[in-house]
Amino acid sequence: MKRTSLRFQLLKSYATWMVGVFTMLGLVLHTGLSGFLIHQLGTVQQQRAESVVELIQNWRKTPAGRSLFEEMDLRFSPLERGWLIRFVDANGGLLYPSASAADPFRGVPVANRAGTRQIELPSGERAMVGAARGPGGGWVEVAESSEPILDKVSEVMIVYVAISALLAIAALTGAWSLIGQTLKPVAEIAAAADRITSHNLNERLPVPPRRDEIAHLTESLNGMIHRLEEALRVNERFVADASHELRTPLTVLRGELEQAALHPELRRPMARLLEEVDSLAQLVDNLLLLSRLDSNQPRKEWTQIDLSQLTVQTIEQMALLAEDKHILITCDALVPAVVNGDGARLKQVIVNLLDNAIKYTPDRGLITLSVRHKKAEIALEVKDTGPGIPAEALPHLFERFFRVDPARSRELGGAGIGLSIVQAICHVHGGRVEVESVLGRGSVFRVLLPGTARPLPF
Ligand SMILES: Nc1ncnc2c1ncn2[C@@H]1O[C@H](COP(=O)(O)OP(=O)(O)OP(=O)(O)O)[C@@H](O)[C@H]1O
Ligand SMILES: [Mg+2]
Repeated sequence: MKRTSLRFQLLKSYATWMVGVFTMLGLVLHTGLSGFLIHQLGTVQQQRAESVVELIQNWRKTPAGRSLFEEMDLRFSPLERGWLIRFVDANGGLLYPSASAADPFRGVPVANRAGTRQIELPSGERAMVGAARGPGGGWVEVAESSEPILDKVSEVMIVYVAISALLAIAALTGAWSLIGQTLKPVAEIAAAADRITSHNLNERLPVPPRRDEIAHLTESLNGMIHRLEEALRVNERFVADASHELRTPLTVLRGELEQAALHPELRRPMARLLEEVDSLAQLVDNLLLLSRLDSNQPRKEWTQIDLSQLTVQTIEQMALLAEDKHILITCDALVPAVVNGDGARLKQVIVNLLDNAIKYTPDRGLITLSVRHKKAEIALEVKDTGPGIPAEALPHLFERFFRVDPARSRELGGAGIGLSIVQAICHVHGGRVEVESVLGRGSVFRVLLPGTARPLPF
């Protein structure tokens, strides 16, 4: 499953939340501001209409002989100021502007009550009108386009959007680093938890110094690791005790069977039983060894060991087994390669791999061993011309009691423990084991151990 970082998810929710808040604020600002300004414009128009009515009511012909409407033009300069003035009589007849001038309100019905309202002018522009009762039952209306105000509001909104975007970028940058700091201990705890395996269950996760939820979670996880460790120890002790207890009766049984085999008529059945007892004793020893490896015993027996020398000695000791099957064992590279470890255990690795190679390779096969340096590691390879291992079995090969063909392995005396011992010994030595195999062609088992820079003491 695709993993998205918590940091990114938190930031996404934060960004969504911020966009929501800024949008809401923007809407409130736009509606509030334009509503207020339009209302103000309406009020101004109303006052203007009332001033016009006042002028009409108080007008007396001046000595200069100007008409009322000339006086209005002079007083209010409607054209220059962008005012639209209409004066209609009680029958709806247009008095001002004079019949010769175009009606700026063309198509807009005459007011039927005093007050303000919004209209659409013949030009398509929106405008606010103030209407006041004129003399003789007529109506005076003054209007002004609201477009300039709406344009101003749009300009304010552009500034608002720019400021909000800058604020959002600053806030998100701050949030990104703040979330990163908060989540840093989580990444450290996850890395520490990844390093904990059944071999180092005694280790604990680092508890962050701040007494927060993450510290609490770490303590809970440490508690869980402690309980797992206890359960594993109980299990290991059980396997160790059971294997130990089985050893003595098996030794007694072996002695008795050997005695019985002295009778000529019992020799053959006893020989078969002795073989079974031997493989049972071998299994018990292997289980005991595995439980010791699992419990990570102290490294006091560790010395510097040349893996090539150990390989040569082991080959010599196992040569007879190979000769029985006319299998040829060769070495194609044995460079001096020193590792720090337990000699007996490392020898067990070579024995188990060589034992498998001899056991599963058909007669007249070829086994090739090599010890090489591979960067900082030392690689021990055991290659055979055996039957190979099916790809689907490879991931399970190092599991305890796993056998590719249980019936055939049992015939050959195998319990499926050898490779899990190899893997456990490699892990104890800080190394690993790999396998490559082609069906019908053969297999290569590769043990990789950390090399040591220190020279041998001889
Ligand atoms: N060199 C090899 N060639 C082909 N198959 C192999 C080889 N080595 C191991 N296997 C397969 O892997 C299985 C597991 O090997 P492992 O050594 O763990 O057990 P075993 O040999 O069956 O028994 P044990 O080693 O406990 O006596 C074997 O049963 C066998 O099927
Ligand atoms: Mg084996």
